[in-house]
Amino acid sequence: MAAFEELAARARDAARQSYSPYSGVRVGCALETDEGAVFEGANIENASFGVTMCAERVALFKAVSEGARAVKRVFVWSDTGLLLPPCGACLQVLSEWMADGAEVTLLREDGEARTYAFRELLPVDLSGLRNHLK
Ligand code: THU
Repeated sequence: MAAFEELAARARDAARQSYSPYSGVRVGCALETDEGAVFEGANIENASFGVTMCAERVALFKAVSEGARAVKRVFVWSDTGLLLPPCGACLQVLSEWMADGAEVTLLREDGEARTYAFRELLPVDLSGLRNHLK
């Protein structure tokens, strides 16, 4: 399990690769899998605003496409001055992959941090439907 400070630094450093000429908002994400692997992502914007991709989904899709199947911790850093939570779309996508008891830590430039249980951010999800469809 990576140290809190390491995951925080990796989320912050990932934001350097943000492509955000439209909003000017840099977001970085570092997530850790149940096997202890760490993947990073940054937000990637587009002139067609609606297809912009959040840092969280970039990191998650990198992880899943490399074989990860369960995520235990997600760290999100932004330069907004806010403790920026994953958007609703990211929560939905993450919910398919979050391990039981998974946590989300939000980080600010000044070092302020707050950790939530993923379940606090998305208390009800489609796990019932997932099982129904299987
Ligand atoms: N964004 C993220 O990458 N993650 C979030 O949690 C919220 C928003 C990005 C999308 C867009 O590039 C910019 O922040 C402003 O919405």
